[in-house]
Amino acid sequence: APSDPDLVERAKRAKAALGDRVFVLGHHYQRDEVIQFADVTGDSFKLAREAAARPDAEYIVFCGVHFMAESADILTSDTQRVVLPDLAAGCSMADMAALVQVEKAWEHFAALGIAGDVVPVTYMNSTADIKGFVGRNDGVVCTSSNAETALRWSFERGSKVFFLPDQHLGRNTAVLKMGMSLDDCVLYDPHKPGGGLTDQQLRDAKMILWRGHCSVHGRFTLASVEDVRARVPGVNVLVHPECRHEVVTAADHVGSTEYIIKMIEAAPAGSAWAVGTELNLVRRLALAHPDKQIMFLDRNVCYCSTMNRIDLPHLVWALEELVAGRVPNEITVDADTAHYARVALDRMLALP
Ligand code: 13P
Ligand code: SF4
Repeated sequence: APSDPDLVERAKRAKAALGDRVFVLGHHYQRDEVIQFADVTGDSFKLAREAAARPDAEYIVFCGVHFMAESADILTSDTQRVVLPDLAAGCSMADMAALVQVEKAWEHFAALGIAGDVVPVTYMNSTADIKGFVGRNDGVVCTSSNAETALRWSFERGSKVFFLPDQHLGRNTAVLKMGMSLDDCVLYDPHKPGGGLTDQQLRDAKMILWRGHCSVHGRFTLASVEDVRARVPGVNVLVHPECRHEVVTAADHVGSTEYIIKMIEAAPAGSAWAVGTELNLVRRLALAHPDKQIMFLDRNVCYCSTMNRIDLPHLVWALEELVAGRVPNEITVDADTAHYARVALDRMLALP
């Protein structure tokens, strides 16, 4: 639906009044009505770099989800204020790993005598607490665009990786990019005693995967891929690495949201693409490339409901509050957590 013209006008006015004092970041999964006001759009990696590269902006308005805004707060200076237009914009995957659970697993590794061999790696899609844990324990953050590089860095420092919280990104990267076997990977279930694993399994594993996943990407199945291949001969299947292993294995291409966009932009006219990622992005790609046949990988998969919480009314409210001299929905990470989370984020930003 087209945006409410009154709200569009108010957003324009508020942004103009704030000028360079505000910088609006928009993740690729955001709604069109929000994306039109983003000063820059990107995947999680690009947005983290962009936030760190704006020292002059007094306010960073993050149109994305909570863990991204936390990372922006960690990477910006103490005087810069980060605003999340709706505090309910969380991420179910990030919520699947709580610090107490992760510390318990780590104590378990220590009791087994393997903690010294394990490098913790967390996907960007995790809370600041988890990034802090990883920073404290000589690990690194990764995103879907540098997971392979982060794993290579980690295996130069230890013989095992403890990968948080997305089992799929961990498994897909280990098996499809690093040449490991599925047997090298074990799944650590925080709700089971000992993670649901035997001591021997933990000793033998190269990748200890946390039992977390994305509720949106987890819904694409092998049947989604088989079905589109049957319906659309010659279709290219392009998916995000948060999809299940069998989906990624059956796909033709896999990569972050930024990679997906670049693939579609470079695709020849007339080619057909079934894209397995969030719907706002796929719809925008289809509209931007009418000369290509771009479809959603599975018609039963929906938006990321938390990404979608950021809508134009929330953005307008946040901007107008800033104009009025108030800072709404400020995201702040405590100094100690921020320090160690920054260590892990800086290691990521310094990866080759
Ligand atoms: P990227 O944009 O880094 O590919 O991440 C996708 C995602 O799920 C963000 O929540
Ligand atoms: Fe989290 Fe998945 Fe939504 Fe990304 S798409 S914010 S991983 S629930």
